[in-house]
Parts: sequence; structure tokens; C-alpha cells
Amino acid sequence: MRVVTLSEPDDFDGWRDAARGLMTQGVPPEDVVWQVGDAPGDLFAAAPASAAPVPAPSAPDAPALSVPRAFLDLARSAILARDPERFALLYTLLARLRREPKVVEDRADPLVRRLETMAKDVRRDIHKMRAFLRFREVADEDGTPRFVAWFEPDNHIVRANAAFFVNRFASMRWSILTPAISLHWDGATLAQGPGAEKADAPDGDPTEEVWKTYYASIFNPARVKIGAMLKEMPRKYWKNMPETALVPALIAGAQARESGMIETARTAMGGNAQAAWAALRDEAAACTRCPLHAPATQTVFGEGPVDAAMMFVGEQPGDQEDLAGHPFVGPAGQMFDRAMAEAGVDRSRVYVTNAVKHFKFEQRGKRRIHAKPGGPEIDACRWWIEQEQAIVRPKVTVALGATAARSLFGRVMTIGRERGRALELPGGGGEAWITVHPSYLLRLPDKAAAEAEYARFVEDLRTAAARVEA
Ligand code: URA
Repeated sequence: MRVVTLSEPDDFDGWRDAARGLMTQGVPPEDVVWQVGDAPGDLFAAAPASAAPVPAPSAPDAPALSVPRAFLDLARSAILARDPERFALLYTLLARLRREPKVVEDRADPLVRRLETMAKDVRRDIHKMRAFLRFREVADEDGTPRFVAWFEPDNHIVRANAAFFVNRFASMRWSILTPAISLHWDGATLAQGPGAEKADAPDGDPTEEVWKTYYASIFNPARVKIGAMLKEMPRKYWKNMPETALVPALIAGAQARESGMIETARTAMGGNAQAAWAALRDEAAACTRCPLHAPATQTVFGEGPVDAAMMFVGEQPGDQEDLAGHPFVGPAGQMFDRAMAEAGVDRSRVYVTNAVKHFKFEQRGKRRIHAKPGGPEIDACRWWIEQEQAIVRPKVTVALGATAARSLFGRVMTIGRERGRALELPGGGGEAWITVHPSYLLRLPDKAAAEAEYARFVEDLRTAAARVEA
């Protein structure tokens, strides 16, 4: 029996070096016990506890094992999961890779699925920390301000998230306190300290007003659904978030506030629509408003300049978009790009998004077959597209297909009847045009009909683009 002792619960390098050494010696997974420090909580023992421990070599000099990039990406995320079996399961998958080089791509494989679920939970936790962590201002001993936040992650993500906070709050001095470790940034160096307790972090203070003002400006009282909000922003985090104290008052003042809201949202955060958009995208990354988030790889958010004059709305990400994390990059996206180029529309200058931000599919063997999103999923996701509309405020919006039209208008629209004419979006959201979805063109079996439909699609795009100048 080999015992591998990793220095930290997120010690990817230690796991990789040990796994490489064990693999080159042909040590089977069932002969390895993985543990973190001497913490029994992170011990995963496939063998009886009485087995005599023989230290496994940490093997930085062992020959490099060639593994697919997808495995490394999976391992880097899954290693941060709280599941104590993660090290052993990853080593088991590594061993299988020798015999089954493509096993990581097999999403129906139970081991791959389990590790992917862990990786996904980790990614969601990372995004939650980015979206829900709130700093409170205190003064250091020399009187300089320091911002302190308390956060309770579900997984071992704190160190992996440090670079994000260093980059975003580079000029502030801050501390992030969590039960397992604390991080301290002094504007130049990042230091790590021991875990803390919630009581070590300060409670509310006047700087929260800044955040409250921003939150009040993006809060859409007309759309609030308490149940969905609780799911999206779990109660666990509410107690650390000053803006949650505003919610009852915001709901009560709904009608009075709604008219000025879109304008305020654009100018929130010092007029920085880009920052408002980035905050929104980060929150959407952790969206659990409908069940589609569970099997999908990630949220695929809209992309493009936040001051774009045109917005294109598709249905939902497809298989390739789900993996890449970007809208319209697969076959329908290529068709869309070609038509846009022919219509003289520069894709880099328009905002492209989807009505539904998670891929809905049916698993058939190894294949993931596209499934059409239903009304409840479109409605649940409308929250995000409304926020995107409020920030981008396009002059012209193009709905690509029936799902996009239903999302934008809040009701079923018949493409054949509405196509080819300017429509007014509800709530004064500007002019909209409805056309077909590019994947409809890909499905047409008859070549002549496909060519004619494609030409009509290009013409629709050209007409809508001309309205920007009107
Ligand atoms: N189809 C869509 O509607 N959106 C995408 O992003 C890809 C395919």
C-alpha cells in the first residue's frame, strides 16, 4: 500500500507529481491511499486502515506522461472539490486513460460524469465567491483603509480564486477571511494566513452605500420572483450582502422606480457599463434559476461591445457553444457568420446572445442531442436577457427564431406573420426584427430551397442593419 500525503487540499502539483511517479511504476489505483497533511477528514482509503504505509515517491524527475488537455483541465478543477475521494478517482481515471485514451470525452462514463460534476460544482463555487463576496471597510493600524470580507466556500477554491481578486482589486488593501484560510493583499504582495471566524470580519459600514446604490440601480422590481431570487442568491450568502437589506423596500417601491431604472443601470458604477456587464456575466455563471444548469457544462453568456447598436438573440447554446463557453461558434454560428458577412454586418461590432443561456440536450449514448427549451426555461432565463438589454440598449434587436422571439416579446410569435417588418419591443426596448434561426437553414433538405431561404435570411439581416442608420 502506498500513502501519498499532499500538502494542501488543493495541491494539484503535488497530486500530479505523485500520480506521475505511481503511474510510471505501474502502481494500480487500489494500492494507493491519498491524504492531505495528517487530516483524517481528507483521507480516502481503499484499503484497510491497518495497511502498512509505504510512502509513494513524489516524482518530479519521472518521465512526463502524455495526457489529453481535457483530462488536465478536469483534474485542475476537480482537485478543488470537497469530495475526499477526488484524488483517488482522478488517479483511477488517469490509469484508465492508458487503455482508453478517449475516455475523458465519454460523458456517459460514470467516473467521468462524477468528476465532471465535481468540476462543475467547483466552477460554480468560484463564480459564487466572485459574485457574492462583499468587502467592508476598516482601518489598518496606521489608519490606511483595508477592505475585509468573510466568505464560506463549499469547496477548496479560495487560493484558486486569489488571482481574480488581486486583479480586480489591485489598488486596494484587502483581506478575505474564510474558515480554512485567509488571504491578505497589501497592494503588492499576497499573503496567506490561518482560517478565521465570521466574528473576525467587520459588520456593515458606510462604504456599503456604494454597493447598495449600484444594486438598487440594477434591481428590477417588476420582474422579481422571490423563489428564483432565493435560489440564485442562496440565503447562506445573504447575511454578508448589504443589498439584501434593501430588497423589501425595493419591492415596495416597484412602480415608482421602474421608469428611471434602465437609464440608471447604464450609468451605475460610475457610468461604467462594461463593469456592470462583467458583474452580470459573473452572476449568470452561477445561475441555477432552472434545471438546465445541472447537466450543462457552463453558462454561455452574451458577447460583444456593451455599446453595440445591434443585438442578435439566438435560441440557446449548442453542443459546441456549451463546451467553448461562447455563443454561436458551432455549425449554426458559422452559417450566421457567413450570412452576416454577406449582409455587410461586422460581427465584432454587434452584441450576440441567446434567449436561454444553458444547453438543453438529451443524452443518447455518447451524443448530446439538442432539445428545444420550453416556456418555463425561456421565462426563467428572461431575467438575464433583460439585464443585457438594459445595459447594451441596442437600437435594433434581431430575434433569430421562435424561441428568441418568445423571450423578447414574452409571448408566442409566429415568424411567418411577423417577419420582414419593424416591431416595437415591450417596455420601450427599441425596434425589433424577427427572422429564422440559422440552424433552420442547415436542416433544409432541398438544395434549391436552402439557397433561396439563405438569401432571404441575408436580406433580413441587411434590412435590420440598415435600420441602425435610420
Ligand atoms: N444556436 C443558438 O441559438 N445559439 C448558439 O449560440 C448556437 C446555436
